[in-house]
This record gives sequence, C-alpha cells and structure tokens, in this order.
Amino acid sequence: MLRRLHPVQPDSFEFTPANLEWARAQMTKYPEGRQQSAIIPLLWRAQEQEGWLSRPAIETCAEMLGMAYIRALEVATFYFMFQLQPVGTVANIQICGTTTCMICGAEALIEVCKRKIAPTPHTLSADGKFSWEEVECLGACANAPMAQIGKDYYEDLTPESLEALIDRMSAGEVPQPGSQVGRFASEPATGRTSLTEIEGSEMNASVQLATDLGETLKRIDGTEVPILTKWRRTPDAAVDDRTGRDTAPEIEPRPSKGMPVDETGVTEQEAEAASAARPRSKREPQGVRAEEARDGNKD
Ligand code: FES
Repeated sequence: MLRRLHPVQPDSFEFTPANLEWARAQMTKYPEGRQQSAIIPLLWRAQEQEGWLSRPAIETCAEMLGMAYIRALEVATFYFMFQLQPVGTVANIQICGTTTCMICGAEALIEVCKRKIAPTPHTLSADGKFSWEEVECLGACANAPMAQIGKDYYEDLTPESLEALIDRMSAGEVPQPGSQVGRFASEPATGRTSLTEIEGSEMNASVQLATDLGETLKRIDGTEVPILTKWRRTPDAAVDDRTGRDTAPEIEPRPSKGMPVDETGVTEQEAEAASAARPRSKREPQGVRAEEARDGNKD
C-alpha cells in the first residue's frame, strides 16, 4: 500500500510544553550520539497530541534528533501505526479484520463504520468526529470481534453495540472499554470453569486502569502521566508514580552515560549530504537553498 503525506498540511507543528519535555527526556535514554533512535517515540507522541502526523510534525521530530527529513519520513511512511491523514476529532476506530475477528463478525462491524462514518477507510465523517480503518490482529482474538478505539480495546462487539459506542462517543461520553458483553477477561463465553473467585475489582486490570485514567479518547498533551526518566529528576521534580510516593533511589545514573556505543568510540552518525537528502519545503528557513546553490548542490 502506497503511503503518502496528506495533500493538505498545516503550516506548523509544536509540541505542548509537557510533551516537549517528555520528548527530550526520551532522547536521553539512548547513548550519546544515538538520539535518532528516539524517532519512533517522538513521532508517536506527536501523533498522540495531534491525532495524526503532518509533515511539519515529522520535520520537527527530525530536527530535534538532528536527522535528515527523509530519514524521519521513511519511518513515518513505513509503519502503518502512523496516521498520515487527519483522523476524527473524537476517535479513529480501528476494526480488527484478521481471521478470528472476521469469522466472528468483523465484516458486519466494518459495515457499521461504512454506514455511520464514511464509505471508505481513512476518511472523515461528515461532522469530522470519526474516521475508521481495518487493522491486523490486535492480539485480543479470544474476545473477537473487537476494535481499538483511542487507546483501549472494545471487545465482544456486535454491530448494535458498536453503533451504540459510536453514538455515546459522539455525545461526549467515554464508554467503558473491555468486553461489551460482561466478560471479565477472556474466559469462556459460557462462564469460568476454574479460578471462579474474583477478588477485588469487578474489572480486569486493563479495564480498571483505563477507567481510572479516563483518557481513552483524549489527545495527549503530556500532563496525563509522569515522565519516567528518573535519571533526569531534580530534587524538586514531581514524583513519578500514581501513589504519590517518590520511590527513586537518591542517585540513578543516566543509562550508558560516558560509555561509547562500540569499540570505535564513534558515537555521532554523520550525514554529510544532509541537504541532498532533505525534501524541498516552503517552510525551510530562508537562506538554506541559497547556501546549497553556493555549494553547487542542486538536489
Ligand atoms: S484476530 Fe482480531 S484480535 Fe486477533
């Protein structure tokens, strides 16, 4: 499948301050000079913030990591998890269409999406609130058919229950994720035959966490969960666990600090022909092309 950038692009992209801090923190997870390894987390956070990846967003991530734009574009266009076109403002509904879900009724769910959202995938609904796509197995086959909506799974779906979910989301609700027929987890549909005593929550851990966080459909601005890079913590920094306790050791070194990535000791990846690898952009700062022309680089 050919994956291209959307023909209509925003003029600019900016991480929110908290997302920017998060992104910079991710870059410290890699050895000196290998910050480009953080390209997927950065692109993903940009997508979590905006819902999809625009060209300015991809270029911003590339600039933060010192990468040629084309390298970041290669990553963004290769992985199907990156949305290259605008998605619904409320949700992009990802229907699993692989074998188990297909046998159990995924095609009927797709018909609901075609009717209620748009006749074709990756297309916004008339009100702009929803889009949909068919995806490969999401690993919840025992609860087929299912869909990922936002960050969570909605399982044991029927056309009626999916339709009701879309209506509730459209009205501003965040329906409880997990099984939509009352299964605790992936026990037999006819009920448990073992481990019949459930202690504690009525919901499984995944659904409980999703319910507690309440951010299934939310665009992420970085304020939702703490940054888990303890080695960057300053004495007055926020605690990073949900209990409110600071459990980090007094001194926690940055991973690989001071260690070369290999015996050569070379840690910087040079890209001598950086300009040649960068696609033309009207947003390039003035002077870049003039510099290239002076250098005789016409690409
Ligand atoms: S086939 Fe749908 S989750 Fe595996």
